[in-house]
Amino acid sequence: MPQRPVRIAPSLLAADFARLGEETRAVAAAGADWLHLDIMDGHFVPNISFGPVVVKALRRQAAIPFDVHLMIAPADPYLQAFAEAGADLISVHPEAGPHLHRTLQTIRGLGKKSGVVLNPATPVSAVENVLDLCDLILVMSVNPGFGGQSFLASQLGKIAILRQMIDASGRDIALQVDGGVTEETAPRCIQAGADVLVAGTAVFGAPDYAGAIGALRGAG
Ligand code: DX5
Ligand code: ZN
Repeated sequence: MPQRPVRIAPSLLAADFARLGEETRAVAAAGADWLHLDIMDGHFVPNISFGPVVVKALRRQAAIPFDVHLMIAPADPYLQAFAEAGADLISVHPEAGPHLHRTLQTIRGLGKKSGVVLNPATPVSAVENVLDLCDLILVMSVNPGFGGQSFLASQLGKIAILRQMIDASGRDIALQVDGGVTEETAPRCIQAGADVLVAGTAVFGAPDYAGAIGALRGAG
């Protein structure tokens, strides 16, 4: 059983891109805790999505926290733009720049919450020396770049190790999982220790957003 509240962050990547404002309002009204915004540059990942102009336009559409997942390299030159666009939390991949510690300091310095994202092949050790600068750790349960991929169960052990690491630290760090999260895989993520679930297809692909969010939240 979940020992902590589970927050659901629908990923806008699976929304209807012709109606992004309406989709943002709809998931917020349906009970989404955060909105997950996937920023892709066609370089760090093999896909291109959208940038700070779109984040800024959507910011006026809903009051829920904007959780901006940067899949861009380098990330540092764009942190201020995403902060000014209205991101509440900015997550970066350690592989996106040479100085993760400095990048996290910059995000905090912009007054935003900071996150570190671990790709399936990235070890837990990539984050352990910067826990003091982390508000969130995101475990990728697919390779980043596309929605609708299959959940990698091999990442559940990493979630469990991070849960122990976070609890032992006594710090208030959210543990998020992203990729292939469905009503079937969500309980396994929650049992492993995740407390924020990103879900693109499982929410925006469902006919009833509130029902889908409720099913994910209650899973476990
Ligand atoms: C993948 C993105 C995910 C993606 C998840 O690179 O980081 O946020 O949108 O989509 P689903 O939930 O469909 O796997
Ligand atoms: Zn994401």
